[in-house]
Amino acid sequence: MNIEERKTAPIGVFDSGVGGLTVAREIARQLPDENIIYFGDTARVPYGSKSQNTIIRFSEQIIRFLRTKQVKAIVIACNTASALALDAVRDEFDIPILGVVIPGARAAVEATRNKKIGVAGTDATVQSGMYTKVIHAMAPDVTVIEKACPLFVPLVEEGFKEHIVTQEVIEYYLESMRSTDIDAMILGCTHYPLLRSKIRDYMGDKIQIVNPAYETAMDLKKLLHEMDMANDGSDARHSRYSFYVSDAAEKFRKFANTVMPFDVPTTNVVNIEEY
Ligand code: DGL
Repeated sequence: MNIEERKTAPIGVFDSGVGGLTVAREIARQLPDENIIYFGDTARVPYGSKSQNTIIRFSEQIIRFLRTKQVKAIVIACNTASALALDAVRDEFDIPILGVVIPGARAAVEATRNKKIGVAGTDATVQSGMYTKVIHAMAPDVTVIEKACPLFVPLVEEGFKEHIVTQEVIEYYLESMRSTDIDAMILGCTHYPLLRSKIRDYMGDKIQIVNPAYETAMDLKKLLHEMDMANDGSDARHSRYSFYVSDAAEKFRKFANTVMPFDVPTTNVVNIEEY
């Protein structure tokens, strides 16, 4: 790839399913001239209940697939894969790879005043303790309280945001965190920003809710400029965004149309086990 080709090459963004669209949406907002190839592993979601070895293997396959699309950088939009696979795939592939945990942790460290941060995530993310490790590397005196909220994922996938069950599940998981004096809380799973207003209403306005997506998009912007890889938009395209999944393309497409600020006309299916 020459320099011009590299600038107009797409960014690969992946997640275990639909949740990473919240990160892709933020990248599209902050970097409107960049082309994005999104992959959602809809055949194998959820990652949050799987082992580290499996999550690394899935991430490797997806990165190999994205590389066939000549991506110039990769964003692991999935918190679980960022927590459990980022170090392994960074060692293995010679392409810039960003995760969401470091940007999310940094935003929370900046947001907290009393040095008490809550983290909500999947079982795998919470068990990895990665948010706590990264926060302590930035600010050792911060207290971190992590809580796994696995049922939030299927509730979002089923479009249950306004359902009474969702309110009950929020209370069930977050009651113990609400009774602490944290003043910042990381939505440490791609799906949770889609419940943000409900979570914020329950946690109250003294707690700042941190969505790692914005900070991740800003880190990506910085990286592209530092590496002289930013697209200046002169490659005016019909559509800057392509969507791939490993299963259930139509369900994904419909969901994507509720999240993305533009029409998603097609979603392509990939046999990801081949990569
Ligand atoms: N994308 C995952 C995450 O951000 C949530 C869904 C899953 O468990 O795969 O952690």
